[in-house]
Amino acid sequence: MNVYILGVETSCDETAAAVLEFGDGSAPRVASNVVASQHEIHEKYGGVVPELAARRHVEMIAPVLEAALEEASVSAEKVDAVAVTRGPGLVVALLVGLSAAKGLAFGLGVPLIDVHHLDGHVHSLFLPAEDGSAAPPPFPHLGFVVSGGHTDFYRVDGHSGVTHLGGTLDDALGEAYDKVAAIMGLGYPGGPIVDRLHAKFLEANGSGAAPVEFPRPHLADRPYAFSFSGLKTAVLNYQKEQGLYLSDRNLPPWARPQEVPEEVACAVAAGFQEAAVEVLVEKVSRVVRREKLPAVSVSGGVAANSYLRRKLGERASQEDWSLHFPARKYCTDNAAMIACAGGFRLRERGREAFMDFTDLDADPSWELGDASDG
Ligand code: KG4
Ligand code: ZN
Repeated sequence: MNVYILGVETSCDETAAAVLEFGDGSAPRVASNVVASQHEIHEKYGGVVPELAARRHVEMIAPVLEAALEEASVSAEKVDAVAVTRGPGLVVALLVGLSAAKGLAFGLGVPLIDVHHLDGHVHSLFLPAEDGSAAPPPFPHLGFVVSGGHTDFYRVDGHSGVTHLGGTLDDALGEAYDKVAAIMGLGYPGGPIVDRLHAKFLEANGSGAAPVEFPRPHLADRPYAFSFSGLKTAVLNYQKEQGLYLSDRNLPPWARPQEVPEEVACAVAAGFQEAAVEVLVEKVSRVVRREKLPAVSVSGGVAANSYLRRKLGERASQEDWSLHFPARKYCTDNAAMIACAGGFRLRERGREAFMDFTDLDADPSWELGDASDG
């Protein structure tokens, strides 16, 4: 019998709800996937402001839930279970989605499956791929999550068997993208903007051209670790040295230095992205071989990056591991991936395991892959 899972995600700056239909096939059908982004609210601050995010989630949660059910043509009574992000994330934001999901599950008398946000990203690979096909990575594989909050390696043995191997020591890569874009006054979120400027640089100068040279923090003695704060600071220092626009909002407009000319912005963005991606490709290649795993999945917002996809693809084709990406629309935060993780856990553990949820609380710093993950 087909099972309908309603997913809810509010851990950061997207209010999202989705309906998935689990049947006999290897990938669930995405009946609806509604994402209300708050980017325009946070753009002028160069990052997410928690209180503003929470207020917007409160406004949006009911209409987004309604839209997800309506688009799926599924009435609330047909929902078999609700899956919700319980952590990690901004506590004030998590609480909005968790409270709504709890209320719904309680009212409908269905199970509530609490999902770790990163387990959601790992499960974006089990949604239909870019071309609509079902081509999930094999178990075990190396799950690499690169988002605004995480740059982490996991060993993925099954839908409930995820072990943390290591990750960034400071900034997540997405966060570094956002900060670099903010330093250059380019807008938020920074990832897609920097990616676009890099492509423009390559188009204007040819693929052999050298952009601004930035350090590549390889941390050779720590194969699973990353550190992007030095790279971010190098971009900041370069901008200062060159006397270029520094996005200091405390200065009155007349006192601000000149805006960065586009060719310079392109060369800086290209330099940053080439340095970051080179480190990333090197690390992934080393970790997958060290762990003796046959496949790598890359998920999270940064997995939408075209240069990263190309460079990792080139490396995978030279070595003996396969590379898997989610469809681009499932890279950045969404509720389909949360419903997907929830649906597989429900299939494995049965509905009774998820009926006692009244005491569930948001956990803003929940670690994935430690002993308590169940
Ligand atoms: O997964 P996500 O939506 O949220 C978190 O869980 O953090 O990731 C958001 C991050 C942002 O930092 C954004 O700049 C980055 O993903 N991002 C990208 C791209 N699209 C989004 N980074 C690089 N290239 C992209 N195309
Ligand atoms: Zn995320």
